Amino acid sequence: MAVLTRRNLLKASAVAGVYGAGMALAGRFTAAHAAPEPLILKSNKIDANITGTEVTRDVLTYGTDGMPPVLRMRQGEPFAAKLINGIDEPTTIHWHGMRIPNAMDGVPFLTQPYVYTGETFDYAFTPPDAGTFWYHPHCNTLIQMGHGMTGVIVVDNPRDPQFDADIVVNLRDWRLGGDGQFIAQFKPRDAARAGTYGTVRSANWQVEPQYDAPSGGLVRLRLAVTDVTRIFSFKVEGAQAMVIAIDGNPVPKRFALDVLQLGPGQRLELAIRMPDSEGATVTLEDIHGTNPKTLAKLRAVGASLKRDIGDLAPLKPNPVRQADLGAAEHIPIILSATAEDTAKDSICGSLGYSFWAINKVPWPGDTPDPTAPLAELKLGKSYVLDMENLTPHSHPIHLHGMSFTVLSSSTGDVQPFVSDTYLVQPNEKVQLAFVADNLGDWLLHCHIIEHQKTGMTSYMRVV
Ligand code: C2O
Ligand code: CU
Repeated sequence: MAVLTRRNLLKASAVAGVYGAGMALAGRFTAAHAAPEPLILKSNKIDANITGTEVTRDVLTYGTDGMPPVLRMRQGEPFAAKLINGIDEPTTIHWHGMRIPNAMDGVPFLTQPYVYTGETFDYAFTPPDAGTFWYHPHCNTLIQMGHGMTGVIVVDNPRDPQFDADIVVNLRDWRLGGDGQFIAQFKPRDAARAGTYGTVRSANWQVEPQYDAPSGGLVRLRLAVTDVTRIFSFKVEGAQAMVIAIDGNPVPKRFALDVLQLGPGQRLELAIRMPDSEGATVTLEDIHGTNPKTLAKLRAVGASLKRDIGDLAPLKPNPVRQADLGAAEHIPIILSATAEDTAKDSICGSLGYSFWAINKVPWPGDTPDPTAPLAELKLGKSYVLDMENLTPHSHPIHLHGMSFTVLSSSTGDVQPFVSDTYLVQPNEKVQLAFVADNLGDWLLHCHIIEHQKTGMTSYMRVV
């Protein structure tokens, strides 16, 4: 009955009382950690040249200057942003991968009210983890994200090892017709399969950009897959590349990049040792599927710095609590297709279909009375998600608010990665362990947005 109580409360108090907690947060910082001036993030509709030839209309972004800005934060230091909604439909901001208070999580109905056109919402939190994260709306996401509202966040740890360059690459597609204008964002029959792919692929809103980096230097290359559909298989040609972090967390043991598959929502940090000779290029490629693609290039400039990748100190792990596996409770999570129910109309953009389900329940859409939580978790207790994919498609499953550790997979050996998004392969069984150390309602959903919006969404409640 807790469900009904909270839902009724949300309904009854609508926009007024319940969500106040988040606002109050800014006032809670002590003098030593005074709340900073908020960064203004205004959602806007703009024209942008993405293809290199045509100007695309109806592009959505934050700010007015092309791609949403890369946000820089510092681990353990307060951050504040004011969302001003300048687009003609409601929106919110979700801070993907960041373990922050529930009231700041940006999910309509579950954690905050819609931010209507012309309205504002104040976000304030202190990032507990360093690494590469990202931000995006959590309302009408197929359109808002599909049209551009996906930005990268870098949280710095000042004690990280020294690189000679830090390059951020926001990877995403656009569904544009031959005239450079948006076409229908999805096809229902594709939504029921792997999702509908974009027609134009971009890196930092450019087709195959090239960046300069010091010859013989060490580059920290931060890749964020912010596309709504595409799964990448990353490969680097022309230089030695080591995987140093995945999904914002340093990998337990760094390893040479051969090919690594990552899905929507995921991030990859590579240490790349640039070639010694000036003018040499390094290419970042996606070799997934039948149509390999160069995503971006790095060009060596200047005299060689002669750095040695082996000298690079390891990154410090983030302060994520390790689950107590002896005491952990197991929660079965079954990912499946469904033909049941149809989605309800939602101001946050229903696609009008139900194709997918978590534990047999398709998410009805972002409504004031969603499904009951998958599970009610006790604050501080350890849990293991026993997740099984019964579908013939891959699903990047994302948990809000808490980071998990990958324990085991039916596909073979896995490193104990700490992450917020796991790409579950067809028919894979995987175990994800975490401590329920963050109060509130936390979404668990597929980050292929068509899957998310046609049923593959649920949430867990930590009390
Ligand atoms: Cu990138 Cu529900 O999140
Ligand atoms: Cu999916």
